[in-house]
Amino acid sequence: MATKVIVQLPGEQDYAVRIGSGVIAKLGQNLREIDRFSASRDVLVITDSNVGPLYLAHVKASLANAGFKSADITVPAGEDTKAVEVAAEIWSAMAQLSFGRDCLVVALGGGVVGDLAGFVASTYMRGVPVVQVPTTLLAMVDSSVGGKTAVNLPEGKNLVGTFYQPSFVCADTDTLATLPEREWRCGCAEVAKSAVIDSDDFFFWLLDNAEAMAARDATVAMEAIQRCVVFKAGVVAQDKTESAGVRECLNYGHTLGHAIEACAGYGTFSHGAAVAEGMRFAVRLAADMLGGADAIGEFADAQGDLLDMLGLPPLAFEAAPEDLLAAMKRDKKARGGEVRFVLARDIATWEIVPVADEVIVKALSR
Ligand SMILES: NC(=O)c1ccc[n+]([C@@H]2O[C@H](COP(=O)([O-])OP(=O)(O)OC[C@H]3O[C@@H](n4cnc5c(N)ncnc54)[C@H](O)[C@@H]3O)[C@@H](O)[C@H]2O)c1
Repeated sequence: MATKVIVQLPGEQDYAVRIGSGVIAKLGQNLREIDRFSASRDVLVITDSNVGPLYLAHVKASLANAGFKSADITVPAGEDTKAVEVAAEIWSAMAQLSFGRDCLVVALGGGVVGDLAGFVASTYMRGVPVVQVPTTLLAMVDSSVGGKTAVNLPEGKNLVGTFYQPSFVCADTDTLATLPEREWRCGCAEVAKSAVIDSDDFFFWLLDNAEAMAARDATVAMEAIQRCVVFKAGVVAQDKTESAGVRECLNYGHTLGHAIEACAGYGTFSHGAAVAEGMRFAVRLAADMLGGADAIGEFADAQGDLLDMLGLPPLAFEAAPEDLLAAMKRDKKARGGEVRFVLARDIATWEIVPVADEVIVKALSR
């Protein structure tokens, strides 16, 4: 069972996202079919210490079957690995292996490996191709598509990076079998976000299938991934570099979500749980700011039901509203000290609104 979405972005080569059970087995063959990739290419597979032991041999076997020789690097699992020092170690390893401009980087792992490997590939020798092999639900539905790469600085997350599209994405849903439950729910929050922003069709399909999604039903998960990829590709096609005010919609729920993660201490709550709370808050704020509270209330209830069914209940978390506001202002997405929210008043009806400090504090106090 496999499917394919073609991502078409202005000024970029089209690329395929192959989604399904067992698609890693065909990865090497798929790469050979991309006319730029002959078997004489040097390939570097970058993975992390959790994913490598599970799937690296499988990826390398698939590459070898298609005639590719590959080297590999395993980085420690976790967000700390998204650092310029780790990128520098990989650049050096590639240089020591005499990798030239015709090499190829394969990112095997979640969003951390994907962002790091994409950054390395986009900068090594001014850019070599990267192929994403996402192994978390979040990476399959979001980070592996759209071309944002990044490393973190001590001053903040994702402060250094590039826009650099992959040449191919291979989302093997079999790898999700080993994903910890907490990571599954993180991905579910991004699926819910995409459904709310996208359309009635996606939202109500997900509402109907939310329990199956929470129970990790393979057929439902595959369709959710496919719908998210189609949605994200459509958004990115309109605003590749997040400069036209469209791509920012992907930040729905993240303004408060990031602040909760920062105030509670990273790792206390999962990213997904914090984003889900941010989505609930964004709707309450929409009712305060945009009017039409009754209509918004109906949507808020439907969104609340969806998040509950996906295993993302309201968070039991208390913090001083001023501390949450300060964290929002430190976020790189605040502009000129002003906090901007993606507010949704209904499904597929969102806008980006700068919100005054006192309005945020008042809404948080409730
Ligand atoms: N580039 C983008 O557009 C974009 C979008 C959203 C998020 N991100 C970034 O993505 C990162 C988060 O990604 P993530 O949630 O995938 O986290 P992650 O990469 O840290 O993966 C989560 C954990 O699951 C483990 N893991 C991964 N796949 C597994 C599998 N199949 N079986 C068992 N364990 C597995 C990892 O080793 C890790 O411990 C953040 O750094 C975030 O900034 C980027």
